[in-house]
Amino acid sequence: MPYPDKILLNDPLDMHLHLRDGEMLRRIAPLSAHTFSGAIVMPNLVPPVTDKKALVDYKARIEDAVGNTPFSPYMTLFFKPDYDMAFLSEMREHLSAIKLYPAGITTNSEGGVSSFDIDALRPTLEAMSALEIPLCVHGETDGFVMDREAQFVPIYERLAEAFPELTIVMEHITTKESVAALDRYENLYATITLHHLYITLDDVAGGLLRPHLFCKPIAKRPEDKEALLRVALEAHPKVMFGSDSAPHPKEAKESYGCAAGVFTAPIALQALAQLFETHDAPLENLQAFVSDNAKRIYGVTPPKKEVVLTKRPTEVPAEYGGVVPMFAEERLTFAIEEIIDG
Ligand code: DOR
Ligand code: ZN
Repeated sequence: MPYPDKILLNDPLDMHLHLRDGEMLRRIAPLSAHTFSGAIVMPNLVPPVTDKKALVDYKARIEDAVGNTPFSPYMTLFFKPDYDMAFLSEMREHLSAIKLYPAGITTNSEGGVSSFDIDALRPTLEAMSALEIPLCVHGETDGFVMDREAQFVPIYERLAEAFPELTIVMEHITTKESVAALDRYENLYATITLHHLYITLDDVAGGLLRPHLFCKPIAKRPEDKEALLRVALEAHPKVMFGSDSAPHPKEAKESYGCAAGVFTAPIALQALAQLFETHDAPLENLQAFVSDNAKRIYGVTPPKKEVVLTKRPTEVPAEYGGVVPMFAEERLTFAIEEIIDG
């Protein structure tokens, strides 16, 4: 049967998004709010979001940037090992997850965790478990760049075993080792980005260096991409779409020290539709991957949004307000036809 020319997606969710702050926030937040019903918003601002005022004020700035478009920013705190029960109880209603970064592993993560000794992390993790606050993890060690994520899997396993009631989301997984871990522990979940479903290290550095595809974790080997594709296209029930769309000004990417991050928010749904078409994957799986799985795992009810995509080859803009998107000036086979809010 030919693949449908028209695809309808209900309440798309982006379960890992960088919205930044200030002028950049005002520029890019409307792009996500246009096509997504909600997003898990990362806390790696400068300084990171670690208290109630910072979180509540940031949420208000996001809502202000988004205007009248229905869109739920699901807020996160930047993990600290010594958040106590009293603090987290007070925070509970304001947040959807806490994001753990190893210290210095990526953009604005200097204040992250430097020891993965379970006992050192216990105060926060015990309180999170009791309060049913999901833990989102940037899972990379400080080892060789291609091995960092696979080396982190034993840490995921220790966390999953020590806190069996804690929902642990392995963020932006890039390896077959992380995919395999999903099925070994009931409380391990994962987000997968758009770019890691499309590219390997060859696309980043196999020919001319392509800075706009440079991100953390770095794209891996073909067999890793295949493993990610398999669980995304089958909409494995523990896997959710999380773009990790991470805008940096064009000058910061096309520079001597290129910042890590791929900007995909405005083209994510179009490129996902193209990907599912290319692999002839069922449309109900796309719906589960971009929304239903996340609703179930996080227990969220985002505002209603119906996104209609049609098959109409369309060129991706060279930039969005000084930020270069993935697929800039290339054609995607699907375009957004209509968005019905409410
Ligand atoms: O490539 C990345 N960019 N990976 C991250 O983990 C952070 C992100 C950013 O904030 O720019
Ligand atoms: Zn991220």
